[in-house]
Amino acid sequence: MKELTVRIRRFDPDKDTGPHVESYTVKVNDGARVLHVLHAIHDTLDPTLSYRYSCASGQCGSCAVRVNGEPVLACMEEAKDRITIEPLNLAVKKDLVTDLIPRLDQIASLLPKKDVVLPKKADIDAIKPLKDCIECLSCVSVCPAVDVTKFIGPTAMRQEMRLVLDPRDSGDRIPDAIRDGLFFCTTCQACWKVCPKSIEIPGKAIEKLRAHANKRGLSLPRHMEVAALVQETGRSIPRTSESFLEKVPGVIEPDGPVKATVGFFVGCMYNLRQQQSALDAMEVLRRNGIRVIIPKEQVCCGSPLIRTGNLAYIDELKRRNIETFKSRGIDTVLTMCAGCGTTLKKDYQTPFAVIDINELLTRYGIEPPARLPIKATYHDPCHLMRGQDIRDQPRALIRQVVDLVEMPSICCGSGGGVRAGNPDEAAALGKRRGEEIKKTGADIVITSCPFCEFHIAGHTDKPVKNIATVLLEGYREKDRKKAAGSKR
Ligand code: FES
Repeated sequence: MKELTVRIRRFDPDKDTGPHVESYTVKVNDGARVLHVLHAIHDTLDPTLSYRYSCASGQCGSCAVRVNGEPVLACMEEAKDRITIEPLNLAVKKDLVTDLIPRLDQIASLLPKKDVVLPKKADIDAIKPLKDCIECLSCVSVCPAVDVTKFIGPTAMRQEMRLVLDPRDSGDRIPDAIRDGLFFCTTCQACWKVCPKSIEIPGKAIEKLRAHANKRGLSLPRHMEVAALVQETGRSIPRTSESFLEKVPGVIEPDGPVKATVGFFVGCMYNLRQQQSALDAMEVLRRNGIRVIIPKEQVCCGSPLIRTGNLAYIDELKRRNIETFKSRGIDTVLTMCAGCGTTLKKDYQTPFAVIDINELLTRYGIEPPARLPIKATYHDPCHLMRGQDIRDQPRALIRQVVDLVEMPSICCGSGGGVRAGNPDEAAALGKRRGEEIKKTGADIVITSCPFCEFHIAGHTDKPVKNIATVLLEGYREKDRKKAAGSKR
């Protein structure tokens, strides 16, 4: 047995004007789950505590709650001392019980065809990644699009795609999915990461539904314009001035001994819009012993097309990019755009390793920069934190140069084609990001993705800087102090 103290958010609409937190100390068996703690509190301390459960074995989804802010199944999550247990971020009926009915009612049901058609093995295999949902609604509770649009939510979209794949269904699911907000998803992956059954809703449902919509000519006009631009120019951003690739040499040699050689995949945003961040990164790499090869024939990775379902030209982009780096004998390709990095790592099959700049600098270590007397907050790019599991490395780098104050990791609203296709939604999410930045009291915002950098800058009055830029400022300060010291 062990003794645990937990905090629980309580709310009784018949008595309370608002929620409050209560603390309880109970004895439970070693290895007890959160549900066992709730049972112990209910049975020995407070029989008025309301919570929901049924199977107690991770199969029914009814016990989902938040533990320390993260949605989990209470019956599966190990109980730890000093945790905070709250209801999911949905309408609360009482204590930990939320109102699931409105969201469950939105999940479509199969409409049988007149003639019986049985699914073949291939159909069953295709449906498999989407069929294990236990309707706990953890995904809906974390979806940023649900909060600011009429988006029906991740699991209802998952079901739309499941029905598209089911030969027994007679519904026309693509127009239904568009009506229900298919193009509002920012592909932030929050739903997938909290799903107790690990259902990859963005990749296996949203992007697939969008690809079906595209085949029927139902993509958003803006997304089709971007696809046409990529096909015409190889780039998803219109060219307005000299590109990064035109400005830099084909090889950048480091100042000192070579620790590693990488090929740099620039990405459209750094090539044509956020060039200074990429130029700053080259300086940081030069200073830290990284030899950078920059092939000029590289093109868009295809991320804006894959996320929006415009797949006609994807194979050609992949072929050209892989050939470009392979023909130089490059065995490691560096990315500094979170979206490009995720795409090269997850949507390509590359004959070379792909590494993000935060991983690279952490792996080889950096010369310590001077500390800057400012307080910074860090925005986790969704396609870095969730897409590539890179969360700690940027923070470790940032802490070498400035004080870091954390804020919640929420989507800024720029991904999944939302900034281009649904600018009002992107602005609403950007505004929310801006409010969180303000609460931190930080002097600057640091991030590590050109889309986030560009979008957040429109929703905060604080300077938004790339992590490479801040490191470079630390090196410049170090050089300035050294030069001032030698003059004395
Ligand atoms: Fe059924 Fe937890 S009680 S999943």
